[in-house]
Amino acid sequence: MPTLRSASKGLQSPNEKPNSDPTTPSKKRSSSRSKETEAVVCSSPVASQSDDAVVKVAKCKIISSPTSSRKRLYGDEPTQKPKWNPKDPVQMKAVKEALHVATAPSNVACRDGEQNKIFDFCKECFEQERAGSLYVCGCPGTGKTLSLQKVKNKLLTWSKEVGYEKPEEVSINCTTLTNTSEIFSKILEKFERTCNGLSPLQQLQRIFSQRHSSPPKMMLIIVDEMDYLITSDRLVLHDLFMLTTLPFSRCILIGIANAIDLADRFLPKLASLNCKPPVITFRAYNKNQIYEIIQERLKGLGYDVFDPLSLEFCARKVAAASGDMRKALAVCRSAVELLETEIRDSCDLQEFHTVTFDHMDKALSKAFKPKIVDTILSLPLHQQIILYALVNLFNRSKNNSTTVGELNKAYNETWKSIHRNARTAIGAAEFTNMCQGLSDQGLLRLKQSKEEKSRRITLTVDSSDIAYAFKGHRFIQDCKRLEE
Ligand SMILES: Nc1ncnc2c1ncn2[C@@H]1O[C@H](COP(=O)(O)OP(=O)(O)OP(=O)(O)O)[C@@H](O)[C@H]1O
Ligand SMILES: [Mg+2]
Repeated sequence: MPTLRSASKGLQSPNEKPNSDPTTPSKKRSSSRSKETEAVVCSSPVASQSDDAVVKVAKCKIISSPTSSRKRLYGDEPTQKPKWNPKDPVQMKAVKEALHVATAPSNVACRDGEQNKIFDFCKECFEQERAGSLYVCGCPGTGKTLSLQKVKNKLLTWSKEVGYEKPEEVSINCTTLTNTSEIFSKILEKFERTCNGLSPLQQLQRIFSQRHSSPPKMMLIIVDEMDYLITSDRLVLHDLFMLTTLPFSRCILIGIANAIDLADRFLPKLASLNCKPPVITFRAYNKNQIYEIIQERLKGLGYDVFDPLSLEFCARKVAAASGDMRKALAVCRSAVELLETEIRDSCDLQEFHTVTFDHMDKALSKAFKPKIVDTILSLPLHQQIILYALVNLFNRSKNNSTTVGELNKAYNETWKSIHRNARTAIGAAEFTNMCQGLSDQGLLRLKQSKEEKSRRITLTVDSSDIAYAFKGHRFIQDCKRLEE
């Protein structure tokens, strides 16, 4: 599996392509060509939906700032900053919304560089009236889809400001396609004409190959989750990029996927034609960026929900694990929910609390629970007790191996500690079978021996994972209490 290289490749210029046709219709331009505007954005995630109308009417840039968002939410006076009250359902809802992955933030922090590169690339294509393709890659949750959305909006605003004809625009998430070649029908939908007898791809190829049939407008095609288009013969992917190399094409194709070398591996022919798309890499977020992004998303609320230490802890953990912003948001939401439950269950709470380090610690443990924990929790009860007895035995004896016979004895003791007068729960043969089952699942190693009861057993997983899995296990916790 390819790894994401830290060095993002420098941008080459858009695909070179003949555009010397003097009869090419020139664009309608307004006089205010130099008046480039910034993206039109709302300043608060909470306010973002309701502010849409304001944004449209204003048709001018609204600078996102904590003061302006607070102003709009809470009035002019900065001293009116509300106090965080987790018991207030309105505040709680606003916080959860701001941390929700489906809430598009007003400001995409820490991605200016990448967004500018993509924007400049598209702008150059517009200005030179030519096609081009770009490949955007990076690990999950690094803001690729979000950034492309912002760039698209910025480009549409810019093209309007400088007087270009409104470009056609298609955004396709390939996971929604029923088959890979459906991508061509989706693009073709933007053209009114259809030609019987030709496939959607052939029709597009025809449109972009003939001067008279080629549309004068620029066309922006954003293809997200592009790796879904990889077929064994790689044809769909190849044909898609080739659309940007046809003589009268004005398509700006931006493909998005996770793998850094998708273009190298699946588009070798494009490289030989010197049309390989430039690559823009979204690197995993580091801890400072995660911290900043969460703060930015909460800024519009105006109150302090998290202890700074708790946020720092979350950012550090998530950055070390994956740098995935989705994970960071989920952990923060989960920590807020823990605080919410705590408050609901307690009646003598004197003052209002923020999300603390402890809440975050619990939320992180839940989120980064090792896979093995699920495996242990899905075992039948008797196998769970065997594991518990084995860890106990190792702890007591300070050894890290035992025999089937010894373990059987420890298991029986554990079982009887709860079912006092019961006979042993399972026979020796069944016990060995259960140990074999645990070995098959990769939880322990069972060595061969002449006698079954002399077979040696060692653990192949960390005993702390077993202890963690049994934290909320009723039977095991009862056993523990009786042992203490
Ligand atoms: N810079 C950022 N500022 C605010 N929120 C962000 C930022 N980057 C990512 N997010 C949030 O993280 C989540 C994931 O972002 P996005 O969908 O853009 O990731 P992606 O790189 O496209 O991931 P994938 O490869 O899985 O499709 C979204 O909820 C998004 O709002
Ligand atoms: Mg995405």
